[in-house]
Amino acid sequence: MTNKVITQLNQVTDLPLPLFPFFKLCQSLKTKGPPELWRPFLKDKTAILYFEEVSTRTRLSFELAAKKLGLTVLTLEGGQSSHVKGESLKDTLENMAWLSPDVLVVRTAAPTLPKTQASIPTINAGTGATAHPTQALADLLTLFEAHHNALPPLAIGYCGDVSRSRVFQSHMRLKKLWPDLSVSLCAPTPIKNIPNYDGPFTYFSSRQAMAKKANVIYSIRPQKERSLNPDFKGDALTEPTQFYKIEPQDLTDSTWLMSPGPINYETDMNPSLLTHPRSLIPRQVENGLYVRMALLALALGVPQ
Ligand code: CP
Repeated sequence: MTNKVITQLNQVTDLPLPLFPFFKLCQSLKTKGPPELWRPFLKDKTAILYFEEVSTRTRLSFELAAKKLGLTVLTLEGGQSSHVKGESLKDTLENMAWLSPDVLVVRTAAPTLPKTQASIPTINAGTGATAHPTQALADLLTLFEAHHNALPPLAIGYCGDVSRSRVFQSHMRLKKLWPDLSVSLCAPTPIKNIPNYDGPFTYFSSRQAMAKKANVIYSIRPQKERSLNPDFKGDALTEPTQFYKIEPQDLTDSTWLMSPGPINYETDMNPSLLTHPRSLIPRQVENGLYVRMALLALALGVPQ
């Protein structure tokens, strides 16, 4: 066990532990729950969750994670906060910090998280099109478990609206934690470059051709909400996304299928694939809970 503390988990590279001890902590929380030693330390701690953008999986798993740790949890949605009256994200977080919670969890359409003066540990639950570190860590833990607690070299083929996806951005940063990850894309053109990633990638114009080369097919839905955001600086979606819809014949007996959700079945994948034997999608959701428990505990500085 560890007593390292997160001050701001904005990217996967801010993880305060090496990858495998972090996975061990997540798995221990999954099989045994929080250690007894943590209970007296956590019982008076408070988490504020601020979700300026909508969410199902991330919000519920953070709330459940905080409750399983025994924290007092306050959740505020952007639409019910003074954001509606023109308060900036920085001011909102500053005001939350003045209430002295022990940890903040924030989802926003803004590209980065402002730091509060009070330096309350803050976890990124999704920022604009730039980062979704807890999803990327849940995905890598899921692949680790799918390979019997090992990470072989992985060839991941991303299929869909990659250039506007924050999950994709955080996956590219995973390469700093797991360099044996090769990247291919089947995505609406033009893919000129991948922000925050200067490594090699292979572009396929055919979904079927990409699927033949990938161990993992990772589906990314059309991120229509990004084009509506005036802060978004990326490419507009110029092609019909139905072109990237994954069908059962794209999977072999050794290909994994993943998606961060939500899934739009008309564009992303055949509905039968959600519970296909090669689908890791339910396990990604499950692991999101334990990754978030571990990150909250690390942010709170649980005792060894
Ligand atoms: N994967 C993900 O972030 O889903 P939600 O937007 O529902 O939280």
